[in-house]
Amino acid sequence: MLSRATALLVCACVVGQVSAQTFKRLGGCPKLGCLFPPDQTDFLAGQFFDIRLEVHAPINGSEVFNGGVPDEKFTLCIQSGKGPCQSATKFFSVKEPALEKWTFSYYEDLFAQDSKTPTTVNVAAKAYRGLALTKPGKYQAKLKYYGGRETVANWVVREPATRRKAKNVLFFIGDGMTQAMITAARLIAHKSINGHYQSLMQMDQMDNLGHQMTHSLDSFITDSANSATSLYTGKKASVSALNVYADSSVNSFDDAKIETIAELFRRRIGGPVGMVSTAVIADATPAALCAHTRDRNQFPQIIQEYLLGAASVNGTIPWPTSCDGPDVVFGGGAENFIAGPTSPGGTDYYKAFQAKGYNVVYNNTGLQAVKNDKKVLGIFSKSNMAKWIDRKIYPANLRNQKNSPTGDGTDAVDQPGLKEMTLKAIDVLQTRQKKKNTGWFMMSEAASIDKMMHVLDYDRALGELLELDDTIRASIAHLKKIGEYENTLIVVTADHGHGFDVFGGADTKYLAAQTDSRKKRNAIGVYESSGLSGYTVAPGSLPNNDTIVFGSEGPNFPVQWNPRYTYAAGFGANPDHREGYAINTTNPRLPAKPDATGDNQVNPSDQPDGFFVEGTLPGDQPQGVHSLQDVSVFANGPGSEAFRGVYNSVDIFFKIADALALGSNSRHH
Ligand SMILES: *[C@@H]1O[C@H](CO)[C@@H](O)[C@H](O)[C@H]1NC(C)=O
Ligand SMILES: *[C@@H]1O[C@H](CO)[C@@H](O)[C@H](O)[C@H]1NC(C)=O
Ligand SMILES: *[C@@H]1O[C@H](CO)[C@@H](O)[C@H](O)[C@H]1NC(C)=O
Ligand SMILES: *[C@@H]1O[C@H](CO)[C@@H](O)[C@H](O)[C@H]1NC(C)=O
Ligand SMILES: *[C@@H]1O[C@H](CO)[C@@H](O)[C@H](O)[C@H]1NC(C)=O
Repeated sequence: MLSRATALLVCACVVGQVSAQTFKRLGGCPKLGCLFPPDQTDFLAGQFFDIRLEVHAPINGSEVFNGGVPDEKFTLCIQSGKGPCQSATKFFSVKEPALEKWTFSYYEDLFAQDSKTPTTVNVAAKAYRGLALTKPGKYQAKLKYYGGRETVANWVVREPATRRKAKNVLFFIGDGMTQAMITAARLIAHKSINGHYQSLMQMDQMDNLGHQMTHSLDSFITDSANSATSLYTGKKASVSALNVYADSSVNSFDDAKIETIAELFRRRIGGPVGMVSTAVIADATPAALCAHTRDRNQFPQIIQEYLLGAASVNGTIPWPTSCDGPDVVFGGGAENFIAGPTSPGGTDYYKAFQAKGYNVVYNNTGLQAVKNDKKVLGIFSKSNMAKWIDRKIYPANLRNQKNSPTGDGTDAVDQPGLKEMTLKAIDVLQTRQKKKNTGWFMMSEAASIDKMMHVLDYDRALGELLELDDTIRASIAHLKKIGEYENTLIVVTADHGHGFDVFGGADTKYLAAQTDSRKKRNAIGVYESSGLSGYTVAPGSLPNNDTIVFGSEGPNFPVQWNPRYTYAAGFGANPDHREGYAINTTNPRLPAKPDATGDNQVNPSDQPDGFFVEGTLPGDQPQGVHSLQDVSVFANGPGSEAFRGVYNSVDIFFKIADALALGSNSRHH
């Protein structure tokens, strides 16, 4: 009781200050002196990073200070263990960087935003580029400013593994995938008799299971950019940031960078790297392998970084490492390659890749035929690639899209799936590593689990999840066939969750027949009325026989996607929408649409038979949003035991880096 009372008192003391909840002056910088990498950062020995220092002088607002004049004489010292705190220039043997100055403004809270009264902050800053700490142990970095103020960051260089366990790493990301989704996918795709599944998901059968916490550096909900940054660099970051600590300057490319697992694999082992996604290939999850920017939306620059490195964009800020052109780049997003306003420099970037030795393919036929010895760029559609359900169950939906990756205005009807892309990528990487026997590193992303969950299209999302599971199963079989299974660490995880779960069954026929919105809800069966999966039941065995039957892909997919008795599912956060639990057979769902003022309302043509569900999100949100829950990690192969237990997202980077022995393991800093 006593400690609780004390805690309340402590809380009361700080309430008077800016609570920095909704809006932040600068995430990760509660004081007026900002130091990145911030407190609690762990490094892999030898991993490159930049340091960014900022001293803030708000000219107004609740933190107004020093007449708006920032201290320009701030200093940084670094202390290794119990040693002296040495000036950063001496410690790292670098020159003192130039002083930079800028001004930015932000809203302190929603009231300030409503009344359009931003707080303005003057900044003095410096950046130290391309540093590394190679000696394991504890460090303190101390920023001193305003004569006596101090911002301290405790850093740890983790003891690196001395022995490499895995030759190859195959890293699968189910974007936005939660255990609730895996359970739902199992329900609709695997037959159960008297509560006993007759077959299991591949993910269910992995050797090691863990959970990871996905929080951001400065918010507890992540996006796919900063969550991937954590998985690939071992550092927490801010929403939208790719492998940088977001600073307060306007330039998105001058923020403090962090070396990624793909860059480390290239630099320290020299092996081939693969990047596979069903999304636009410049999208956050693939981009975080190789790109560095505070703004994940800078697609043209991100594509340029794949080929030419981070130092090539917007000026001459040095960065000592890069992916040097990943050996395999497979995905969507042709608009960033076809010469035009959204390609790098407006140029034909297919040609730019070809000039660097890539074979380029535009469809599944080309993908299967291309040789395995050269680097391969495969771009299979404009925008995100087609969803598994549309490719496999409703292929007519691929027509009239005018999304051919060549830009000739035809439809991209011959798209590979995640499985075809991943298996081909394995063959290319395997061939390209042969000469030096380096092994390979690949990330393969089922991107549209997330994209379809956002639009509450549960069926398409689960179709993508089942395709991921099928891809993992096929990859394991293929690795066994080529004799690499025992050498390959396979990790399957997600970057964040969505608040999706199934709570019952739904009789879509009864639901559609009711006119009263409340009565439609009687079509939902809970507990004993939830019934059994209508998706795995053989056609004809349901009452009235009124199921639509589609070609089965074998036991690992539903035998039908449009049964009368579907699952009733809900979402932790949603816009105003209607719910009818019926698959949309012509296109992905669009639950809400903005009106003339930008306020999102029910889309009248979505789920026309459904009942109204009141939104729980601000009106500017047209879709569901990411959620808080921990996500699962499944792992097989050498080094996979390390993935058991409950840990932070950043630990995944260290576990993979240790399996590959990527740390420099030197006794000197
Ligand atoms: C701070 O100053 C700026 C620029 O003079 C002004 O636009 C803004 O409204 C001021 N904000 C507050 C909170 O006073
Ligand atoms: C490029 O750098 C300039 C100069 O620092 C900056 O003003 C601009 O905002 C940067 N561009 C982007 C897209 O970040
Ligand atoms: C695949 O791409 C190649 C190269 O652009 C093209 O010649 C071929 O017609 C395409 N095949 C299909 C089935 O779209
Ligand atoms: C039910 O479906 C089966 C298999 O498709 C068919 O042979 C049978 O005639 C159907 N029965 C009714 C009542 O429609
Ligand atoms: C599917 O989408 C189309 C186009 O938006 C719409 O007309 C139709 O009503 C939708 N179907 C369902 C079941 O929501």
